[in-house]
Amino acid sequence: MNAEHSRARVLVRTADGSRTLSWGAEHYHSIHGAVQESTHVFIKAGLEHLGKPHVDVLEVGLGTGLNLLLTWIRCLEGKLTVAYHAFEPFPLEADQLNALAHCEDLAWPGLHEPFLDVMTSAADTWHEGMGGLRFKRSPTDVRRLDADQEFDVVYFDAFAPNHQPELWTVEVFERMHRALRPGGLLVTYCAKGDVRRAMISAGFAVERLPGPPGKREMLRAVK
Ligand SMILES: C[S@@+](CC[C@H](N)C(=O)[O-])C[C@H]1O[C@@H](n2cnc3c(N)ncnc32)[C@H](O)[C@@H]1O
Repeated sequence: MNAEHSRARVLVRTADGSRTLSWGAEHYHSIHGAVQESTHVFIKAGLEHLGKPHVDVLEVGLGTGLNLLLTWIRCLEGKLTVAYHAFEPFPLEADQLNALAHCEDLAWPGLHEPFLDVMTSAADTWHEGMGGLRFKRSPTDVRRLDADQEFDVVYFDAFAPNHQPELWTVEVFERMHRALRPGGLLVTYCAKGDVRRAMISAGFAVERLPGPPGKREMLRAVK
């Protein structure tokens, strides 16, 4: 990943009209609809499924910040409060975030400046006063995650296992299992059999759920 990191990222319009980036053969979101996929997998099957008034989120792969924005909007709507810690070793530049214009696609244009601010300012610092959301991003590689029962849900949004197999291992799932409280959830767009088996080996109970448009299934792992 490091050696390839400088490869250009290209703006792509997905089938639901929202934008994402492509990076070689990989996409940051499904080309069948970025907002649809993020809402289905991470918000509905993860965050909202918990049904808690306060949720501690760990995101693995902050990327373009779309999952952050969708979570933040639910906080601004008064649905819950969230402490959101995101890991991203390869943060995007402000010009890439500007071009993506997620806040415009989500019909929350007023969020663009505060969003850009938290996405590009100091890492490893909690940003407060965001209307029910606290946010911190860290350059941490998920393979060095060292948390014990700190989170209610993990948004596991790494690039696909054929692209980054080193992130979809039993050892990484064991670290995420340890980071979750009992009853906590790990959600991901990936439904591969090898991935499901690695999650089970790490101690999770795993459900196959219907996927977002364009994908038959997704996985939800429960501690
Ligand atoms: C599918 S994209 C994430 C999409 C993102 N959630 C969004 O809404 O735009 C995968 C992300 O994982 C990041 N990543 C790569 N290696 C990682 C690692 N070892 N630990 C954590 N994140 C990593 C990539 O830089 C990339 O931003």
